[in-house]
Amino acid sequence: MFKNKKIKTTIERPSLITLTRPSSVIAEQFRTIRTNIQFSMVDKELKTLLVTSAAPGAGKSTVSANLAVTMAMQGKRVLLVDADMRKPTVHKTFKLPNQDGLTTLLTEKDAAIKDIAHRMPTEGLYIITSGIIPPNPSELLASNKMTLLIKELEEIFDLIIFDTPPVIAVTDAQVMASKVDGTLFVVNKGVADKEMVKKSKELLAMVHANIIGVIFNRVELAQDTYYHYYGE
Ligand SMILES: Nc1ncnc2c1ncn2[C@@H]1O[C@H](COP(=O)(O)OP(=O)(O)OP(=O)(O)O)[C@@H](O)[C@H]1O
Ligand SMILES: [Mg+2]
Repeated sequence: MFKNKKIKTTIERPSLITLTRPSSVIAEQFRTIRTNIQFSMVDKELKTLLVTSAAPGAGKSTVSANLAVTMAMQGKRVLLVDADMRKPTVHKTFKLPNQDGLTTLLTEKDAAIKDIAHRMPTEGLYIITSGIIPPNPSELLASNKMTLLIKELEEIFDLIIFDTPPVIAVTDAQVMASKVDGTLFVVNKGVADKEMVKKSKELLAMVHANIIGVIFNRVELAQDTYYHYYGE
């Protein structure tokens, strides 16, 4: 289904492993994803990247967090934004308060990025948590304010990574995919339902999402431990 996509990668284990075990196989896998992303965008600058999946629990948050760390470790100024206002987890992963975040920036007139974004101990890594869960996440993400915010963030950071809800359940990821340069699709290899993946791909195509790659998560060690990279 994604045969001619540029990036096809496999990860076996999760969490913030790129920080805790930078010399592990998985951390190396994230560096490969980083390289693949960079190679896939030689002609066009990629500043905003969205991570999504078909169904819940595929590993979107794990992938976005580790990718943000890996990109920052290469010397980039990276911002990870928790745009999953349904089930936000970025604040938990990085042990940050979540009183203020994306919701604040989208709903409070005087909120400033510099006051909301957390500067992390990892050099170059910044995080905007979800903030208080709003009643209308899709509307907020679809708003003109969100488009303006992305523009403003692009001026400050080299790369902005958005963690989002799954495509099938709500329109949030679709809405965001139309606003960003590239979308990474995480497939939980053991459980992903082919029909759901197909449906998600159609939903993303409807908004002209630029799916730059697919990451296969939770692949059995013995089965498929290597990366697959397909150039076009
Ligand atoms: N490769 C993996 N191996 C084992 N556990 C994993 C792997 N990837 C993610 N997990 C675990 O699975 C759970 C779900 O992962 P994660 O939160 O990244 O998924 P998600 O797609 O963001 O989920 P949601 O749709 O709920 O936002 C987490 O507890 C995470 O630590
Ligand atoms: Mg998540």
